[in-house]
Amino acid sequence: MSLNQQAIHLKRKEGTAGGTKYIAVASGKGGVGKTILSLSFGKGLSDTGKKVLIIDADLGLSNVHLMLGITPRKNLAHFFFGDATFDDITVKINERFAFISSGNGIYELVKLPKEQIVNLIRRLQELAEENYDYVIFDTPPGIHEDTVAVVSSADFPVIVTTPEPTAVADAYALIKIINRESEVKDFFLVVNKVESDKEGRKVYESIRLLAERYTSAQLNHVGSIKYRKTLIRKIIEQDPFDKGFMDDVYNILSNMNLEVAPRRRSFWESIVSRLLGR
Ligand SMILES: Nc1ncnc2c1ncn2[C@@H]1O[C@H](COP(=O)(O)OP(=O)(O)O)[C@@H](O)[C@H]1O
Ligand SMILES: [Mg+2]
Repeated sequence: MSLNQQAIHLKRKEGTAGGTKYIAVASGKGGVGKTILSLSFGKGLSDTGKKVLIIDADLGLSNVHLMLGITPRKNLAHFFFGDATFDDITVKINERFAFISSGNGIYELVKLPKEQIVNLIRRLQELAEENYDYVIFDTPPGIHEDTVAVVSSADFPVIVTTPEPTAVADAYALIKIINRESEVKDFFLVVNKVESDKEGRKVYESIRLLAERYTSAQLNHVGSIKYRKTLIRKIIEQDPFDKGFMDDVYNILSNMNLEVAPRRRSFWESIVSRLLGR
């Protein structure tokens, strides 16, 4: 076990809150590293003994499976419409680490009668919470109602950006909108593809200044990830876990203080009321 993994362990022991935790990974702009970060969070947590489920909710560019080279035959929509069991749609990466493709599951769900939506979500909640310690949502880029629902309901809303000015502007816009449309104040900012930690900190400061001035959002800079040329080769080889990248991720995970998150109301309860409330 690496030092970083031990650090995560220690923080956990001190923690108080129990139960399944929900992490949402979102960005304003595409291509900033949400999918690789979601997978790396999953890998990091499962390596420390936690059971982790990734829900790939990025419909357009659903690429968790592409990075892993495993294609699921059925998705969340099949589960919601009775064409597949939870086991059928769960793809095991290893014994503690699995993923589900959402397909157009969440979007299709709102077409069903309310009572049925509530029942299906409750069933999904039971299955997720019986089997996993962490559920990580990889969301599509940009500001969609479904993304706002998922991100604002999560225990850990993680916003990813790169130092590129367009990505920074879009990250701020996303934070502003989620903050305006929900009561969420605490965001976790990850700056990816940086040259140095200093560059990451500068990006964080620029967003923090805007957020402080124009929103009630609190931004926690949980860390930066260096640009690594070797990563693309790993992704092409469908073995996306790069050692240097993972070291940055372990650092981020321990900065997130995962065990001591103040729980608002339940993730699924919040999703249901957002889906039904529109
Ligand atoms: N730290 C990094 N260093 C080098 N390349 C990266 C890094 N993070 C992401 N990438 C590359 O950027 C591309 C987009 O990453 P991805 O995780 O698919 O982003 P998103 O899900 O936000 O669209 C991928 O080709 C990936 O290889
Ligand atoms: Mg993606």
